[in-house]
Amino acid sequence: MAGAAAGGATTIHDLPDAILSSILASVTDTRARNAAALVCRKWLVLERGTRTSLTLRGNVVHNNLYMIPTCFRAVTHLDLSLLSPWGHSLISPSSDPMLLAHLLRHAFPMVTSLTVYARTPATLQLLAPQWPNLTHIKLVKWHQRSPSALGSDFDPILRHCTSLTSVDLSNFYYWTEDLPPALQAHPATAAALTRLDLMTLSFAEGFKSHEILAITAACPNLQQLLIACTFDPRYIGFVGDEAIVAIASNCPGLTVLHLADTASLSNGRGDPEEEGFSSEDAGISTTALSGLFSGLPLLQELVLDVCKNVRDSGATLEMLNSRCPKLRVLKLGHFHGLCLAIGSQLDGVALCQGLESLSIKNSADLTDMGLIAIARGCSKLAKFEIHGCKKVTWKGISTMACLRRSTLVEFKISCCKNLDAVSALRGLEPIRDRIQRLHIDCIWDRSEQFEDSEEAILAHSFDLNELEQPSIPSQDDDRFWDHEASIKKKKRKYTTDLDASYEQNNGNGICSKTWERLRCLSLWIGVGELLPPLAKAGLDDCPCLEEIQIKVEGDCRERSKPSQPFGLSSLMRYPRLSKMKLDCGDTIGYALTAPSGQTDLSTWERFYLNGIKNLTLNELDYWPPQDKDVNHRSLSLPSAGLLAECVTLRKLFIHGTAHEHFMTFLLAIPNLRDVQLREDYYPAPENDMSTEMRIDSCSRFEDALNRRRILD
Ligand SMILES: *[C@@H]1O[C@H](CO)[C@@H](O)[C@H](O)[C@H]1NC(C)=O
Repeated sequence: MAGAAAGGATTIHDLPDAILSSILASVTDTRARNAAALVCRKWLVLERGTRTSLTLRGNVVHNNLYMIPTCFRAVTHLDLSLLSPWGHSLISPSSDPMLLAHLLRHAFPMVTSLTVYARTPATLQLLAPQWPNLTHIKLVKWHQRSPSALGSDFDPILRHCTSLTSVDLSNFYYWTEDLPPALQAHPATAAALTRLDLMTLSFAEGFKSHEILAITAACPNLQQLLIACTFDPRYIGFVGDEAIVAIASNCPGLTVLHLADTASLSNGRGDPEEEGFSSEDAGISTTALSGLFSGLPLLQELVLDVCKNVRDSGATLEMLNSRCPKLRVLKLGHFHGLCLAIGSQLDGVALCQGLESLSIKNSADLTDMGLIAIARGCSKLAKFEIHGCKKVTWKGISTMACLRRSTLVEFKISCCKNLDAVSALRGLEPIRDRIQRLHIDCIWDRSEQFEDSEEAILAHSFDLNELEQPSIPSQDDDRFWDHEASIKKKKRKYTTDLDASYEQNNGNGICSKTWERLRCLSLWIGVGELLPPLAKAGLDDCPCLEEIQIKVEGDCRERSKPSQPFGLSSLMRYPRLSKMKLDCGDTIGYALTAPSGQTDLSTWERFYLNGIKNLTLNELDYWPPQDKDVNHRSLSLPSAGLLAECVTLRKLFIHGTAHEHFMTFLLAIPNLRDVQLREDYYPAPENDMSTEMRIDSCSRFEDALNRRRILD
């Protein structure tokens, strides 16, 4: 390039610096930025000057202070939560903590958004004063709460960072009673907050009613509130009408409100055979819900995942359309009667015509007709999720897909008794060429047999007949009209739309077999089940699939030892697949109580990882099987060996620990750049001495990793 410039030709170097700088500023991919910084000294300066976000890795505490980079002075978003060893306190007796804090401030003077692993309050006491202009902070902690006064984790940030607007505690373990007094002690900072994320994943019990009252009273200007709470009326302080009404009256400017019971945050899929109604009803009346909707006119996003029955919710949900006209995202858990779909008149949630994303979990009485009504009414629907709805079948899914063919790009189907893999995929056929993200359950055995495609067509004409009753509203118009003529016109339009999309997909028999735009596939699979039937179930041709997430769940003791591998190598059929999340963290074997022969989870690790070397993966997130009682997730010898054979890996994140000796196997992967061990589950073990979480072994491994020559 320099040669060409000398020769007089016009090159990119003739661009004024300001323009070049804007161009570089718009590059978001970190590797592309790193490459740009290597071009020449000028590009280096421009790239560094426009780098606003940085995640620091490596071991800062252990006499590596000189390694803190000082060339990223424009960084505003700094993430210190992934320093190694993972979860280690920044405050170490072997180094001078004050010096570390000053060095960090000096290196990153512009920081306004900070993510930090705060194992003890001392970390924040040290860091918060360094960046008084912080507007956003995310705290991370999976270790147990240190014995300290209530609220002492939050006191330093609320005291020193008076410009804060956003606090994220979703990955931070604390007690719910820590927060209200801390907010009350710093009323000015609390009152200025606009976003609080309290959807804390590690809670056993969520926020209580009186705590929600206190928090919302202290933070009247909140626009976004996400809160993990307790809806179960059997608990003292459960969230009921009082809290629901208070949220709206204390924080009338909310645009985003998520209220989810902690039970919904645990990973389990649930049992599709369950009756559908929980044993208890929630202590929330439809009157209180109406009050909530009326009080929050700016609402754009609403999650109410209650885990206890909210019955006859349809009439109340209808109000959302008029009271919250900006609502785009809605998720409801355990709401029954949300769309009755009696006759052709739209009702209930189907009247929320602005919705772009809708998620329905555990609605016991939702039927195919309800689904069709939703598809007609919510004409902008781009994302749809259905979980634990027994009555829905592939016919409902299929008609919905036909109706919303032009808008739907994301679909999740899980834990529905009548929607195993084959029927779910059959239902999605009408949008097979459009969908970008998909979740299904890998349930093979119950597969309803489809004799041939004629049955599908028959089923559709059944649905169409149902729909072709008088006064069918078009999905993109309001439901009220008076003129006969208009009815006829609309009816015609509606049915032709349907016929047209029908024709295109099924009618003429040229149904696209290809999932042309599918980029991300998420799967749930029971322990011991095999993966290869996936292709036969309908997902054989996915030319763009880049990422796959597999969640394995179940108790190994109930399964005999596997005789053939899980079948990861069957994913070789997806040519672009480069990222995988393989989560066996909910595969349990109860090492201490299981019958002999079933205790060894490494057998299962070998079963799952076998064949992984055949995939050309770039990034892998792996959760080893664990025993909850033993609270120990650790890589076994066979799995370290199998992972070491993935020669294309560049990033490897193990959500657990590993012995240093096993880690050295990974050095055989030629392009491996980033290896992280994260104990991101509660409670992370306190005693890390036997594992790679030790400072010394971690440093040795990282040194060895960095000594290698990486080609790029
Ligand atoms: C996986 O790769 C190995 C060689 O590394 C090869 O022997 C084996 O046949 C491959 N498996 C499949 C299913 O292609």
